[in-house]
Amino acid sequence: MAHSLPHSFIQEDRTITVAVQRPAQAVAKEDRSALEIFGGHSLQGQVTISGAKNSALVIMAGTLLCADDCRITNVPKLADINNMAEILKALGVSLKHDGNTLEINASDIGGSEAPYELVSRLRASFFAIGPLLSRLGEVKIPLPGGCAIGARPVELHVKGLQAMGASVQIEHGIVKAAVIGGGRLKGAKIYLDCPSVGATETLMMAATLADGETIIENAAQEPEVEDLANFCCALGAKIEGAGTNTIVISGVEKLHGGEWDIIPDRIEAGTFLVAGAITRSELTLNSVVPDHLTAVIAKLHSVGCKVITESDSILRIIPAETYKATDIKTMPFPGFPTDMQAQFMALLTLAEGNSVITEMMFENRLQHVAELQRMGANIKSKGNMAIVGGMPFLSGAPVMATDLRASAALVLAGLAAQGKTTVQQLRHLDRGYEQLDEKLRRLGAKIERIEMSAS
Ligand code: EPZ
Repeated sequence: MAHSLPHSFIQEDRTITVAVQRPAQAVAKEDRSALEIFGGHSLQGQVTISGAKNSALVIMAGTLLCADDCRITNVPKLADINNMAEILKALGVSLKHDGNTLEINASDIGGSEAPYELVSRLRASFFAIGPLLSRLGEVKIPLPGGCAIGARPVELHVKGLQAMGASVQIEHGIVKAAVIGGGRLKGAKIYLDCPSVGATETLMMAATLADGETIIENAAQEPEVEDLANFCCALGAKIEGAGTNTIVISGVEKLHGGEWDIIPDRIEAGTFLVAGAITRSELTLNSVVPDHLTAVIAKLHSVGCKVITESDSILRIIPAETYKATDIKTMPFPGFPTDMQAQFMALLTLAEGNSVITEMMFENRLQHVAELQRMGANIKSKGNMAIVGGMPFLSGAPVMATDLRASAALVLAGLAAQGKTTVQQLRHLDRGYEQLDEKLRRLGAKIERIEMSAS
């Protein structure tokens, strides 16, 4: 097998050589883990939602912006978080990981080794480019590849950094960026062709230390963008308008350390709301932000559920006897989130009538259709659209997870299906859900983690 060329992070004259390490046994082990679910049981009680994966990952990268102590709390325990922690340590960051708290200090970002396996596997490692470029003036970072759901290009990140005075070349899969003429990046007015979450976050972080004012227009409005902005402001950054489509950043010379509590994970919360709906169970969700779930709650109402806001951090779902079909089109926030499309499709397989689901954000995010069809779902998909014809029930079956949110959809379908469902390839699920099976078991689900036989 051709050996992958070592990739490297290079900053100033120090080179971090990324050695090629393939934990063969770990890869084999991950492939054998599975969830065994006996469906048809209702759930009850309350669940506490963990911190948001997509906020924690980018805020971890954001700690590279300063040379002081940062303490991040409510960090979910996830494989992606562990991978990002390893990558930061590879950059010379000192990082202590204690449960759901991270103590990070990026004062001495220097040379060391990072497992190539992690850097190539975690796209979010690319978030480091903005902070490293604005801190060090020069950086090399592997180009993040695509993933199961799409090509995931980064040209908007690159074009924005170029507008701020960086030269950016991409050679042999490595992005090489440097501030033209040395010194600091320059504030710029940037219009994003599409409201990319990652590009908004990369450019916002880079702009915090730039010389002058940066305006990002057509910015992403996701809550995770706002959480990152609030974190950067806690470090002394000057950012206005995060959470709207226009963000204004006034660059400062230096940022200091600080503390931050990660917002609740709106996608985990949405997943548990659907778990209540699909098992026809009344559930209470603690530690949520209802305003982050407006579109999901609206769609649950349209199929017949009631979702009650008990307080500014507690939601309760009351299921319906039968569900009505509804159409879903995924859009940037505050539209219906693409990260909830698969989970909602699982619910709509049991609704009365035909639902049309259109995936507008990623080109390959309907892989769960084939697996749901194995469970008896009546779905016809073509291109980025799926027509879901409601069925009276689903049948348990062995199914294969293909990506993070598809995994969650299959677990939800298994909770409602008649008989046993085995969801394999749990590495996808473990990237983005903290103890999903334990949390569901505590609510009464018949769900166990097993190791499939090696054959
Ligand atoms: C973030 O990905 C999330 N990941 C995704 O969550 C989420 O689905 C996505 O935002 C949309 O909400 C993290 O925050 C780590 P984008 P990101 O840039 O930043 C195109 C999950 O399940 N695009 O907003 O990569 C892109 O191809 C994950 O938790 C360009 O064309 O998303 C896509 O079609 C999956 N050029 C669209 O924009 C670019 O330079 C939205 O992508 C950048 C993006």
